[in-house]
Amino acid sequence: MNISKLASAGAIALAGFAYACGGGSDTKTETTSTPAATAPEKEMSFDEMYKDNPAYLEGQTLVKGSDCMSCHMVERKIVGPSYKDVAAKYENTEENIATLAEHVVKGNSGVWGEVPMPAHPGLSEDDAKKMVKYILLLKK
Ligand code: HEC
Repeated sequence: MNISKLASAGAIALAGFAYACGGGSDTKTETTSTPAATAPEKEMSFDEMYKDNPAYLEGQTLVKGSDCMSCHMVERKIVGPSYKDVAAKYENTEENIATLAEHVVKGNSGVWGEVPMPAHPGLSEDDAKKMVKYILLLKK
């Protein structure tokens, strides 16, 4: 009799303890982690890549203001090689910039095929170099 009374009292005490403990979980806020949205694998355009690069912007403006785009495109070969192909062929070094700038001013042929790159006698060496610097940035 006494023993069973003690036992049930203990059970009540335990139940009360468990309840008190469990009560705490009511205020516990579940932190739900939202998975970071996975950005779509879209290739960045060169314009985006170099939007803060003055050498890119200056060279691009010069190229667009000249006759270059009638024979060259960035991504595709037309009369002349694509600028991407030119950038892939030559490392971006002072030496290559000087050589290519000379080809732009004086004209050249035989590197990419039979069609010659016409001379641009009206173009300063300085501007030609800026154009070439822009072209050589066109690689990813
Ligand atoms: C009438 C068409 C034509 C125009 C206009 C033209 N190009 Fe070209 N360009 C070519 C051809 C064709 C080649 C390939 C020449 C070769 O095989 O050596 C070439 C080659 C080049 C090359 C690579 C040279 C090399 O030695 O690998 C560069 C750089 C270049 N052009 C830049 C320019 C720039 C900058 C302009 C504008 C100022 C321009 N081109 C205007 C037709 C043109």
